[in-house]
Amino acid sequence: MGSVSPSQTSLPPSLQHKVFQPNPTGTPLSPTPKTPTLFTPLSIRSLTLPHRTLLAPMGTYSSVNGHLTPWQYTHYSSLLSRGPTLTFLEATAVTPEGRTSPLDLGLYSDAHIEGLSKIIDFARKEGQKIGIQLGHSGWKGSMMPILPGRKMEAVRDEDGTILLDSMSPKEPLLSDIIH
Ligand SMILES: Cc1cc2nc3c(=O)[nH]c(=O)nc-3n(C[C@H](O)[C@H](O)[C@H](O)COP(=O)(O)O)c2cc1C
Repeated sequence: MGSVSPSQTSLPPSLQHKVFQPNPTGTPLSPTPKTPTLFTPLSIRSLTLPHRTLLAPMGTYSSVNGHLTPWQYTHYSSLLSRGPTLTFLEATAVTPEGRTSPLDLGLYSDAHIEGLSKIIDFARKEGQKIGIQLGHSGWKGSMMPILPGRKMEAVRDEDGTILLDSMSPKEPLLSDIIH
């Protein structure tokens, strides 16, 4: 790959930005028996990772109505291009009221697919693996983001009404279970 000119355009668009870096970031070019275990491959069932630096799911409280925002795209794409071979997106709620806060990432409508697809495409182009932590906050949901200096409090409307309505455990109705 070293002799490829930066002006070469015959590669498919998905590969053009990888001309000078054929392997995912962090992959040792010439592993030896002394290569630290961290930089050796790891196989988990059918998944083989070229090295062992992973990113745990970490909430960013940066979504709008559950959508991945440009800030989150930048955050995750910059991490993906720098190293973790397997990146987990932050806890992603499967229902609106299952978000821990209104700023949580969500995957509870088809409209959320587009934003998530963009970061998945980016991960694939980088040769990195990406996962997602699907979750539901249960009765602990509908709180304001736990940020420094902020106490735990419910999300309320201007008139004081608690929004999202998942503040306490609720006995499921039969109609919630049988559809
Ligand atoms: C800012 C921040 C956000 C986090 N968000 C989540 C999350 O969305 N889901 C989760 O399971 N853990 C979350 N965690 C916990 C981390 O995933 C991880 O388990 C923790 O940082 C400990 O890492 P370690 O197990 O590698 O020591 C968060 C941690 C931090 C620091």
